Amino acid sequence: MPTPRALTLTRPDDFHLHLRDGPAMASVVPHTAAQFGRALVMPNLKPPVTTVAQALAYRERILAALEQRAPEGADSAFAPLMTLYLTDNTPLDEVARVAETPEVIAFKYYPAGATTNSDSGVTALERVYRVLAAMEQQGVVLCLHGEVTSPEVDVFDREARFVEGPLAQIARDFPALRMVVEHITTREAADWVEAAPAHVGATITPQHLLYSRNALFTGGIRPHFYCLPVLKRESHRQRLIEAATSGNPKFFLGTDSAPHAKNSKESCCGAAGCYSAHAALELYAEAFEAADALDRLDDFASRFGAAFYGLPRNTGTVTLARETWSPPDAFAFGEETVVPLTLGRALAWRLRAPMGSGGRE
Ligand code: DOR
Ligand code: ZN
Repeated sequence: MPTPRALTLTRPDDFHLHLRDGPAMASVVPHTAAQFGRALVMPNLKPPVTTVAQALAYRERILAALEQRAPEGADSAFAPLMTLYLTDNTPLDEVARVAETPEVIAFKYYPAGATTNSDSGVTALERVYRVLAAMEQQGVVLCLHGEVTSPEVDVFDREARFVEGPLAQIARDFPALRMVVEHITTREAADWVEAAPAHVGATITPQHLLYSRNALFTGGIRPHFYCLPVLKRESHRQRLIEAATSGNPKFFLGTDSAPHAKNSKESCCGAAGCYSAHAALELYAEAFEAADALDRLDDFASRFGAAFYGLPRNTGTVTLARETWSPPDAFAFGEETVVPLTLGRALAWRLRAPMGSGGRE
C-alpha cells in the first residue's frame, strides 16, 4: 500500500496508562488527552488505589488538572477510566462496587514485587480466589501484569513462565473471568491469548512493537528503553507485530506510558517505565506502517479495546500527518523533567492539532 500523506482515525483509547498524581500528573495528562478519548488509568500510586472511593477521587483530580491546563475554548471530552489495585486484602464488596460504578472498569493484578509500586500486590494466587470468583460472576475485568517474580527465574523468561503457570491456572479455575494480559512482550503470551476464549484480550505497547532488547544496549546502557516486562529478542517483537496487525480483536492499544523523573531513570538503579504519551499514536503508526498495515491501525487503536470493555466507540477523529519532526528531549514533570522514549530521534508522523475531540457514540 502506498503511504498516505495523512491518516484519519476514530479518536482512539489508551487501555493502559500511568499518570501518577499531583503536579507530576498535571504535567503529563494533557499529552494523553490530546490524542485519546479515554484512558484506563493504572492504580499503582503510593499508596495504591484500592477502593472505588479512592479511584473516583483520583479521577476528579485528573479532570481538575485537565480543566486548569486546557486552553481557552478547548473541548475537553477526555474521560479517564479507573482501575483498582488488587491486594491480598481486597474485600468482596469492593467487587460489587466496581460492578455498579461505570467510571471504574477493572481490577489490576500485580504479583507482589513485580514492578514499580507493586509492594502491595498479590503474594499468593489462592489469597485472591474468592475475589476472582466474585469478579467472574459479576463480569468485572481483571487486568494482569503477567510476570512471575521468583528471583531465580531469568528476567527475560518471567512473562513466559507466568503464562504457563499462574495465567493458565486462573483461566482453568475461572473459565468465564474477563481478563486482559497487559503489555504482552512474548510469542508465548501472544499465542496463549490468541488461543483463549473471546473474553480474554491483551494490550500491546509502542516500545514492544518498535524495539527489541538490543535497544537497551546500543552503544551503552539506555535507561529510557527500560520497562517491565523488559524488551525481548527480535523474534518476539515480530510476533507482537503480527498479533497487533492481524485484525484479531483480542489485541488492542495500551501504551503503558509510565513517566519517571529523569534522575530516577538515569541512576545506579534506574526505574522501569517508558514515557510515550507525547507521541503514542505517532509511534504506533510507525510500527503499523513498517508492517504495511496502516489500514489496520484504526481497529487496533480505536475499536477493539472499546468493544472488549463493552464501551461505545468514540465519535470524533484524529489525524496524523506524514511529517518529520523531533519531539523535545524532555518534558516538565512536576518540579522535575521526564525524558521520553523518543529521545534523540525524529518521527515520521505527527498528530494534527485537534479540531474538536467529539464524544461517544
Ligand atoms: O515499566 C513499567 N513501569 N512497568 C510496570 O508494570 C509499571 C510501570 C510504572 O508504573 O512505572
Ligand atoms: Zn503499566
